[in-house]
Amino acid sequence: MELTHTLSSDFFKANREKLKQWLPPRAAVLIWSGTEVVASADMSFPFEVSRNFWYLTGLNIPEALLIICPDLPYSDLQETLILVRTTEAQKIWEGVRVPEEEISQISGIDNVIIVEREKDVYKLIARVMWHAIYVYIEVDEHERYNPYPFPDSQRQWVKKLMELYPAHQYRRLYQIMTQLRMVKSTKELERMKVAVRKAADILTHDVLPVIKGGIKENELEGAIIGGALKRGCVISFPCIIAGGSSACILHYSDNNRVIEKNSFVLIDWGVKHEFYCSDMTRVIPVGKPPGRFFDIYEAVYTAHEKIKEFIMPGKTWTEVQDYAMKVVGEELVKLGLLSSSDLTGKGWKGAVRKYFMHGFGHHIGLDVHDPYFADEPMQPGMVLTCEPGIYVREEGIGIRIENEIVVT
Ligand code: GLY
Ligand code: MN
Repeated sequence: MELTHTLSSDFFKANREKLKQWLPPRAAVLIWSGTEVVASADMSFPFEVSRNFWYLTGLNIPEALLIICPDLPYSDLQETLILVRTTEAQKIWEGVRVPEEEISQISGIDNVIIVEREKDVYKLIARVMWHAIYVYIEVDEHERYNPYPFPDSQRQWVKKLMELYPAHQYRRLYQIMTQLRMVKSTKELERMKVAVRKAADILTHDVLPVIKGGIKENELEGAIIGGALKRGCVISFPCIIAGGSSACILHYSDNNRVIEKNSFVLIDWGVKHEFYCSDMTRVIPVGKPPGRFFDIYEAVYTAHEKIKEFIMPGKTWTEVQDYAMKVVGEELVKLGLLSSSDLTGKGWKGAVRKYFMHGFGHHIGLDVHDPYFADEPMQPGMVLTCEPGIYVREEGIGIRIENEIVVT
């Protein structure tokens, strides 16, 4: 399903104005929206637009270039969208994503230039590069980004630009966009709250009623995907539906096993509402769960509540992470999985990591894992997940509890 949104062009205009505040004289920002990738011999993968392109334009379209060059002597290219015209063949096979006449209305950008071929884009770029000294470029720089087996279309686009214009000074757009996107506006928070509400409703109304021993994990996955579609949204990442010991695999998404009668299921799911994501985790007992399930659950819940209280303006991600390791460590001692001496001395984090091997949470917004700086003090309007977990592989029990926290 193709997502739509109800944000007015004022929102995207304001985002562009904020970006301009960060630019020095003779700077040009060039953001390529992305290219569709064929999945196999047939259709393309669902298109994932550059989130920064979307944040600045509100447009979910491939093969489009946003240029921002505030002091360019040519006013038609100071703030411009360049699109390659949809071909007749594309219209027949895929339809038109956004009608040409709506591009300005959605983005608030007056200068929209439709060219016939991609090579025509470069004639316009030449007029910008002539003036600019600093060129701000975007590539995915998330710590989890993996450029193999092939670089994404953004990287290929940027590489071509740098080959054509090797003498310019290229700068990271990531630094600026991360600063802007880390703090959510009221309009963004409204949408994120709906994304959380819809995810919660899916669990309550579509998933919990059908959970029973013997059901397959993928039946619950189907319930989540269907629940999202009927609420006008899509899942924000592949669901993790892990019955029993599979819960110890952090990103288990095979979802192809049977959930046993007396066990439990870890569900990590989220949706995108108007492009804003939610991400939550619950662990549901099925019948009478095994061993120390409830003790470990209580331990994670206690840690979750403490970490949640600790997230506040002024604290950095790193400080919260250290605190999370400490409180989970204390719970591990209570469970007898660690001794108190394990929590003293240099190697204490390594001891905790045996059972809690991921971060306490991450920023969330247009991306499930939104860009952030771990050493930046938190501010009101930031949104993070709080998701401590304890995974006791030798007992086949993995618990994670995840909610989203707005820093206030
Ligand atoms: N939702 C999966 C994760 O946060 O890693
Ligand atoms: Mn998460």
